[in-house]
Amino acid sequence: MAEHIISLQGVTKEFDTKGGKVVALRDINLDIEKGDSYGIIGLSGAGKSTLVRTINLLEQPTEGKVLFDGNLLTGLKGKDLNLHRRKISMIFQQFNLLMQRDALGNILFPLEIAGVPKQEAIEKAKELLKVVDLEERAHSYPSQLSGGQKQRVAIARALASDPEVILCDEATSALDPKTTRSILGLLKKINEERGITLVVITHEMEVIKQLCGKVAVIENGEIVERGPVAEIFARPKTKAAKKLFFPDEENREKAEARTSTKNRLRLAFDESSAYKPIIANMILETGAPVNFFYADLDMLGGEQKGQMVIGLSEDKILAEKQKEYLRKEKVEFIELNEDAEEVAE
Ligand SMILES: Nc1ncnc2c1ncn2[C@@H]1O[C@H](COP(=O)(O)OP(=O)(O)OP(=O)(O)O)[C@@H](O)[C@H]1O
Ligand SMILES: [Mg+2]
Repeated sequence: MAEHIISLQGVTKEFDTKGGKVVALRDINLDIEKGDSYGIIGLSGAGKSTLVRTINLLEQPTEGKVLFDGNLLTGLKGKDLNLHRRKISMIFQQFNLLMQRDALGNILFPLEIAGVPKQEAIEKAKELLKVVDLEERAHSYPSQLSGGQKQRVAIARALASDPEVILCDEATSALDPKTTRSILGLLKKINEERGITLVVITHEMEVIKQLCGKVAVIENGEIVERGPVAEIFARPKTKAAKKLFFPDEENREKAEARTSTKNRLRLAFDESSAYKPIIANMILETGAPVNFFYADLDMLGGEQKGQMVIGLSEDKILAEKQKEYLRKEKVEFIELNEDAEEVAE
C-alpha cells in the first residue's frame, strides 16, 4: 500500500477577527502519497494558503490532526516539531529571499542554521545552483535577478535541507507564462528525479495541468472534489471545479450543449487503448469539451473491443485538434454526419 507522507484528518481552522469568527478550513481530510505532485486549486479566499500552512504547522489547526510521514505533528512544539519541519520546505509567490545576501548566500542560509560545516555548505549550495541552472549568478543579489531567477534561487534554497516535501504557494503567480513554464518544468523534474513530494497551491488550472497528477478543489474552506487530474478535467462534478477548469466558458454544460450533433465520432477501442483514459487526456491536451453520447459497456470492462460515440467541439479548429489527438493516439474513428451516414476516416 502506498504510504501517506501527509495526512490531514478532520482539520478545521478558525480565525477570531474583530468582525467575528472566520472559518478558513472546515473538516479537511486529505492524504498525500509519497512522490505525488498534488495540486490544490481554488479561488481567492478559498483557504488554500491556510491549508498549506497547516501542513507544516505554521498555522495550528483549531481541530483535527496533521500527520507527517506517520508522525503526529499537531501537539508537538519547539525542537520536536522542528525536527519534522526540516523535511518540509516551502516556496512562495513573492520568493521571500534575503535581499542583503547574494544567490549563494540565500541558499547557504538553511545550511548555516542546520550547522553544516562551512566548506561543505558552500559546495552543496554551488551544486544546487547548478541544479536550478543558475551557476553564473552565484554572486547576484535578488535585486539584480529576474522573477524567474529569484524563484530558482528560492527552489535551490528549498532543496538545501534535503526535504521530503516542497509546499508551493502560488509559486508562479508573479511570473509571465514563459517563465512559469520553465519553473514548472524545473519543479516537475525535481519531483520526478528526486522523488520529492510536491504540494502545489494555485488558482490556475494551467499549473495543475502541467505539474500535478492529482488535484483537490477547495471552495469556502472545504474540499469539494478530488482525484486524478485527467479524471477531474474530463468530468468535473462541482460548479467550483467547472469554473476553475473551464474559466473561459460560462459553464461547462453550456459548452457541452454547443458540441454540435453534427460533429460526432464513433471511436473504436482495442484492448490496449481501452485501458488508457484517452478521452480524458484529449480534453486535457486540447482544453475543449466533449459530449458523451454512447459507450459500449464492454469497453468499461477493458477486456474486449469497445466503442463510444462522442461529440466534438463546435469550434472547427478545436474539433480538428481533437481529431489530431485521436490520430496521434491511434484510436480508430469514424465521423458520423447528421444523417448518421458514416464517413470512413
Ligand atoms: N490570519 C488570519 N486572520 C484572520 N483571517 C484570516 C487569516 N488568514 C486567513 N484568513 C481568512 O481565511 C480565509 C482563507 O484565506 P486564505 O489566505 O487561506 O485564502 P487563499 O485561498 O490562499 O486566497 P488567495 O488565493 O487570495 O491567496 C479568508 O477568508 C481569509 O480572510
Ligand atoms: Mg493564498
